[in-house]
Amino acid sequence: MISSAKPHPVGVIGGTGLTTLSDLEITGERQVETPWGVPSAPLVDGRLGDQPVIFLSRHGNPHRLPPHQVNYRANLQALYDSGARTVVGVNAVGGIHRDMGPAQVVVPDQIIDYTWGRASTFFEGDLQSVTHIDFTWPYDDSARQILIDAAGAEKVPFSGFGVYGATQGPRLETAAEILRMERDGCDLVGMTGMPEAALAAELGMRYVCLGLVVNWAAGKSDHIITMAEIEEAIEQGMSGVRRILEVSIAS
Ligand code: HPA
Repeated sequence: MISSAKPHPVGVIGGTGLTTLSDLEITGERQVETPWGVPSAPLVDGRLGDQPVIFLSRHGNPHRLPPHQVNYRANLQALYDSGARTVVGVNAVGGIHRDMGPAQVVVPDQIIDYTWGRASTFFEGDLQSVTHIDFTWPYDDSARQILIDAAGAEKVPFSGFGVYGATQGPRLETAAEILRMERDGCDLVGMTGMPEAALAAELGMRYVCLGLVVNWAAGKSDHIITMAEIEEAIEQGMSGVRRILEVSIAS
């Protein structure tokens, strides 16, 4: 079970295609404010089995915030202030690696950050000292293993590794950008993995990414990327993501 020493709730940040958690037994909803501003949406409190969960829709509900305008600091701070010490970030991604085609679930183990201009640290302003957090392993390994075991148990097709390349968006990439990312070692590409993971690390939270591939990355198929293709992969793959969340979080 994914849990940070009970009674801490597990935070789930839902991305494109996951604006609500249908299995969640909802106990309340709160609009909160943080020193960094308001999060993307009200926090939804609930339970999966015995485990308290706080669900937050990263792009708002309805989906209205593009990746570069998400207030990642407010989102992470709000979850932290509500007691969450473990966060599962659900992300729609494009597949670069040949094993990471549409509707495949991925639990990445590394990140390369190509984003720019985002508020990406809590350590700024009038500081007493400069802090450099360790970020060697951006994703919590035990939480990754729990997600991987749940995917196996639920027979959801998954890849238990992968380097997540975080791009700025909101446009998709050129074929040449994807080739460069591939040479860099990226296996998948998304727009919301950073600074979320780094901010969680700054707060000392356990963070893990559950990715759903919704398209082949630019130039990795014989056609351009369409919203219809993305919607179809979400339709096909999101039930697996929901089952993995339920099995890995509910006790
Ligand atoms: N690129 C960047 N972000 C994405 C993609 C993509 O191809 N698909 C889903 N999120």
